[in-house]
Amino acid sequence: MLSRRRFLHSLTASTALLGLPARAGAEAGPAILAAGPSRHRIAPEGLPETDLWTFNGSFPGPELRFAQGGRLACRVENRLEAPTAVHWHGLRLDNAMDGVPGVTQAPILPGEEFDYAFDLPDAGTYWYHSHAQSVEQVERGLYGALIVEEAEAPEVDRDLTLVLDDIRMARGAQLAGDFDNLHDRAHAGRIGNVVLTNGAPEPRYEVRRNDRLRLRLVNAANARIFELGLYGLSGWVMALDGMPLAAPQALTGPMVLAPGQRIDLIVDVTTAEDEAFLLHLERNGGYAQAVFGVAPGAGARRPEPAPLPPNPEFPIDLAGAVPQRVLMSGGAMRPLGEAIHQGEVLTGRELTDRGLVWALNGQAGRDILPLVEVPRGASVRLGLANDTAFRHAMHLHGMHFAQVRPDGTLGPLRDTLLMAPDETTEIAFAAHNPGDWLFHCHMLGHHAGGMGTFIRVTA
Ligand code: C2O
Ligand code: CU
Repeated sequence: MLSRRRFLHSLTASTALLGLPARAGAEAGPAILAAGPSRHRIAPEGLPETDLWTFNGSFPGPELRFAQGGRLACRVENRLEAPTAVHWHGLRLDNAMDGVPGVTQAPILPGEEFDYAFDLPDAGTYWYHSHAQSVEQVERGLYGALIVEEAEAPEVDRDLTLVLDDIRMARGAQLAGDFDNLHDRAHAGRIGNVVLTNGAPEPRYEVRRNDRLRLRLVNAANARIFELGLYGLSGWVMALDGMPLAAPQALTGPMVLAPGQRIDLIVDVTTAEDEAFLLHLERNGGYAQAVFGVAPGAGARRPEPAPLPPNPEFPIDLAGAVPQRVLMSGGAMRPLGEAIHQGEVLTGRELTDRGLVWALNGQAGRDILPLVEVPRGASVRLGLANDTAFRHAMHLHGMHFAQVRPDGTLGPLRDTLLMAPDETTEIAFAAHNPGDWLFHCHMLGHHAGGMGTFIRVTA
């Protein structure tokens, strides 16, 4: 096994230019996203290229950019030997376009295609990824960023998307093939041994002193929770999970980015040195997640940016919200004694034989009945209790929610919430979007291991 530190440091020069997303035009993405195998230089020269599954042969997939109020229309062709489907993470779109095989569409079989088309009412940083056997397909590279641009975007010198990932490499610079490994599934998920930004370890970007950068961070990893810091850059959090904050929030400490989550930053290059960094923080220190080469600049520091323009709002009626408890259980250390799976009570042993190790309200895996069913326009209040020894990144499709703070006020809108072991909290959302919407842990092995349900919003 390659040691990650050494691996990263030996790579800086050779792969800095590889694996960057091919940027689509500002107004439209490519009309076709073809999912298929491709090879990429991730390991140092001398080692083989890595076999991945990607969109259009690009790792990450092409960065799709659209104007707010526009429409995404895209044909997904499946050139894999496995069924697939594409989920547009964080978008408040038509349910039929949500890309969940078995729920919103039939899987796209090998050799077949599916046309996705939907309106884009919200600006922000989103992403797309396979939602079929995702614990394997996302790990293999089937993901990309999806940016919806505000009509009045803040003035910056550079708008840069940084898609973070980690992969688990085995001998020959190939992905370890044990995607369904029950040990990972019952613990913190599949954590990789090579950390990537835009498909490369420690990529380098050239900037000038006092440049203003918009950094769009996306966590596409299977299970890794990134803890990030900045060195030589200072600024503000502008948006979480695509949704603008009411006011920019000055960055003071580390940022936590759970699988599926995004953070939009506006930062100024403030260092007097010739390099600045996005830092990957770990318990015993940190290293570069991305490097910024700093050239002298002409400008002076600029004032705090104005908040991003708000997206259309769907007010949450907390007082009138339909309440529903969600008890998260299972996993290593607190294994399931029994749980219901597709209407049948199974013992812990029978569950693990089926790869199921987690449950929501005693249900392992998605039931045929929704967690809660409400008419469109109602609000829902979910009381979440994490009765497990692990962290979970709970993601709701199709609608954004807000965390209900202890004082009863609402936090910022998000689509993915990180929960600590034994944490209890509440989230609430306006059920403005009709359809069946998944609610699941975005640690992809946890979802595959049973931690998923859905919410039905009737028209
Ligand atoms: Cu980003 Cu259900 O997924
Ligand atoms: Cu989880």
